[in-house]
Amino acid sequence: MASDTAIQEAESAIARLATPPMIPDPYPLYDAIRRVDRVYESTTLGAYAVTGYKEVNTAARMASMRNGVRAAAMQRPDWQEHDALRLFLRALVNLDPPEHPAMREVAAAVFTPNAIKRMRSSIERLAHRFVEELAERARDGEPVDLVPALASPFPVAVISEMLGVAGDQGMLFYELANDWTRIWGGYYTDADLVQADKSVAELRGYFSELFRARRAERRDDLISALVEQHEAGRLDDEDLMALATFLFISGFETTTNLISTSVYTLLENRDQLELWRNKPEITASAVEELLRHGTPISGTVRLTGETIRLGGKEIPPGRMLFLMTAGANRDPLQFTDPDRLDLTRNEGGHVSFGGGAHYCLGANLARMEAQIVLPMIINRFSGIEVAGEVEWRTAIGLHGFEHLPLALSD
Ligand code: HEM
Repeated sequence: MASDTAIQEAESAIARLATPPMIPDPYPLYDAIRRVDRVYESTTLGAYAVTGYKEVNTAARMASMRNGVRAAAMQRPDWQEHDALRLFLRALVNLDPPEHPAMREVAAAVFTPNAIKRMRSSIERLAHRFVEELAERARDGEPVDLVPALASPFPVAVISEMLGVAGDQGMLFYELANDWTRIWGGYYTDADLVQADKSVAELRGYFSELFRARRAERRDDLISALVEQHEAGRLDDEDLMALATFLFISGFETTTNLISTSVYTLLENRDQLELWRNKPEITASAVEELLRHGTPISGTVRLTGETIRLGGKEIPPGRMLFLMTAGANRDPLQFTDPDRLDLTRNEGGHVSFGGGAHYCLGANLARMEAQIVLPMIINRFSGIEVAGEVEWRTAIGLHGFEHLPLALSD
């Protein structure tokens, strides 16, 4: 039985989780919650905070779970009047059965392991281009902000090429997508929602134009493959729009954070940076460890569809669970000395890509991007230093940088 003080600490940790001072290092807060219970019923949240590795993994795989983000957004009485919410709730990640397995099948038929493998040479070419541009900008000795210079535009360029969005349009879509994703975390102002509706209208226009072009002339890209699924009757008009726009956004939103957080973490752990430089063969495990340590998406929300047992507790239907992947990835029952970055760690998988029916469809694309671009950065520059004020992103659920100025030397 936890003491009153421990419970107070856990509640205070939950209240502080998304506050700016805690954003760079929220992990002691997850520890405070986990110390009381790995499946903790919080009065502040009005929901369960799940911070245990085993428990997050188990809950993510329970077939009876429903999507909590969807349930929460639908509580807004006027959600149907906002296109930004309507289209978001049609995104693959927010669907429940029977719609989810049907759309997932189509998405998996298009976004195949082979389609990802075929991206390797494009990713290498793009990574090389962005790293050389970094070098060019760093030449005059001025700091270069890694986020707008590489961490953002590189994954945008990769997913744009994969989908078949022309290079110059990718960054325009990216700006519009940012207005839209601002409302995805659930905390936004009415003005944010108005702007999101406007930007979604514009995005729809551009994507409709792409669909028209690919109907007229197929190419070797994912938009053509999606248009084919639509023509075969496996997607209706709205599903086509929802899937294409969601694939585009999931292609960069999180990978951007993985890249920026990884570079920063390596700078804070110079011995590991040197180890990776000297032992390129650890690249695969290095990226897995950076995914674990930095957890680019801090968690996800589920709603119990029926009574479940989790962490020794019985939880009735209709209760919200916050699956805190960032906490689970630092669970000492699963990982030895979990706060330590150890690029050679081999202790079983992290939960950064979720689990179960909604397991990240782009996990291997994200891995490939990081495995290619991170070694290029650390090997291209012998000197890498933080040079100025860093700024973390404040969007709920995302862990990464808005600005990361670096001094780079050959
Ligand atoms: C480091 C990068 C990435 C991270 C950390 C990440 C993380 C996640 C997580 C945690 C989920 C599950 C969400 C939930 O259960 O509620 C998810 C789902 C998804 N991710 Fe990723 N992701 C990344 C990159 C990508 C990329 C590059 C793509 C490519 C388009 C992608 C496509 C998707 C899709 C389509 C889903 C929804 C799957 C479904 O609901 O069936 N992700 N991702």
